[in-house]
Amino acid sequence: MNASVKIAVLGSGDIGGTLGANWLVAGHQVAFGVRDAASAKARSALAKAGANVRADTIANAMQFGDVVVFSVPSNAV
Ligand SMILES: NC(=O)c1ccc[n+]([C@@H]2O[C@H](COP(=O)([O-])OP(=O)(O)OC[C@H]3O[C@@H](n4cnc5c(N)ncnc54)[C@H](OP(=O)(O)O)[C@@H]3O)[C@@H](O)[C@H]2O)c1
Repeated sequence: MNASVKIAVLGSGDIGGTLGANWLVAGHQVAFGVRDAASAKARSALAKAGANVRADTIANAMQFGDVVVFSVPSNAV
């Protein structure tokens, strides 16, 4: 059985965008936590991930996720 996990992906760049898109394909639920949902990286990640994903504030994404993945630069953590 493949249980669906709620995953918050903080940062929607190369790493976060790729992980998020692939976890959606694998049947998990994903919310990107971003500082600016209108940024080029956030828009690109949303376009790649498809309809079943959202970009939200970092705080809201962290509340959503049972798992929280940091994919921001280390100095941003
Ligand atoms: N790419 C690789 O091959 C690779 C390999 C190993 C490790 N890593 C590590 O993985 C992490 C992510 O790398 P990446 O390649 O995905 O980077 P990236 O494409 O530059 O994306 C970085 C993401 O972090 C966000 N961000 C940057 N500063 C922030 C801040 N102060 N507060 C909130 N969000 C912030 C950016 O948001 P905006 O869109 O708003 O700028 C963007 O969504 C880094 O720590 C990197 O060292 C990357």
